Amino acid sequence: MPGNRENQKEIFKRLREQGIPGYKIEGILGSGAMATVFRGRQTSLNRIVAIKVLKSRLAKDENYVRRFHIEGRSAAKLNHHNIVSAIDVGQAGEYHYFVMEYVEGDTIDAVLKQGKVYEEKEALTIIIQVARALKHAHEHWIIHRDIKPKNIMITTHGVVKLADMGLARELTDLAAIEAEKGQVWGTPYYIAPEQIRGKRDVDGRADIYSLGATLYHMVTGRVPFHHENKREIMNMHLHTSLTPPDHINKKLSIGISEMIEIMMKKNPEDRYQNAKILIDDIESILKGNPPIRAHQSIDVDRFSPLATGDFVPPEMSALEYETIIRRQRIALIVCGVSLVVVILTLIIFLMLFL
Ligand SMILES: Nc1ncnc2c1ncn2[C@@H]1O[C@H](COP(=O)(O)OP(=O)(O)O)[C@@H](O)[C@H]1O
Ligand SMILES: [Mg+2]
Repeated sequence: MPGNRENQKEIFKRLREQGIPGYKIEGILGSGAMATVFRGRQTSLNRIVAIKVLKSRLAKDENYVRRFHIEGRSAAKLNHHNIVSAIDVGQAGEYHYFVMEYVEGDTIDAVLKQGKVYEEKEALTIIIQVARALKHAHEHWIIHRDIKPKNIMITTHGVVKLADMGLARELTDLAAIEAEKGQVWGTPYYIAPEQIRGKRDVDGRADIYSLGATLYHMVTGRVPFHHENKREIMNMHLHTSLTPPDHINKKLSIGISEMIEIMMKKNPEDRYQNAKILIDDIESILKGNPPIRAHQSIDVDRFSPLATGDFVPPEMSALEYETIIRRQRIALIVCGVSLVVVILTLIIFLMLFL
């Protein structure tokens, strides 16, 4: 976008003049809805870094800026080789910035834009690394909130790096989007339904939904829901059922298709409940086996005891559980029939002999 490019150059010029203490701004890496990313040099260590600078319209929002700094600091606590490491967060003049590890490589978004449809195995090898990054972050109570192809980078050595960890995403509820109609905001293609509803208490399961939507795009070549109108896309996330990925790409296994559908369930309760069990299923599919946990959650969902909170041993498979329930039912019927027979015999006996 020429306008966007102009804007980037302008910020670049002003930032170079003004400077960020400890860093030298060297070039422009890219731009998103909320920030512009520059290539810089950390002078103390003489290393290349990426510096994300908040756009001025967001810098005016006090709440957002506060969250940006708090979350920047908490993201700096994370240390995982699949997460772009956070280095520094601060303010220089009117600019709020976030310094992070520089990743040399492509984003998944750039690859998808070249028209690539990923082979199942290649996609899973990438997604499992993002799932490991999420497991680590979630265990530290950090939710990403903006998992999408543009935030997943692959280094020139083939290592997956998840970017923007912990950076707050703003304006996710429909009312706010409505108020900002016509503006170029972040993409709604991968956003979880509960984020669209503007729920304040979104948890790691929102990241699992967005990762599912990203994987969907990678293996089918299409976003899960498409429409000209962003608001309509969000309505589709809320209400439209998903076309199973293997209906679009016939080469996909049933396993990966099932897994994506569970990752993208509208209700967070019906999804994989954490990144660990998702990783188990990806590993299972990569070994050529069906996704174990996917089957459990589909089948177990149908059982009312789970809904009422009854204890089900986690190691028990859905099939074993179903067998036990069936046996219990048969036992109940046999007991009932026997009881009726005994009572009837007793009545007949009494009538005959009394
Ligand atoms: N740590 C990084 N190292 C190298 N390039 C980066 C880094 N982070 C972001 N970029 C580049 O900057 C672009 C814009 O990033 P960003 O502002 O985060 O966009 P978005 O908000 O859409 O995620 C990315 O598409 C990527 O090309
Ligand atoms: Mg980003």
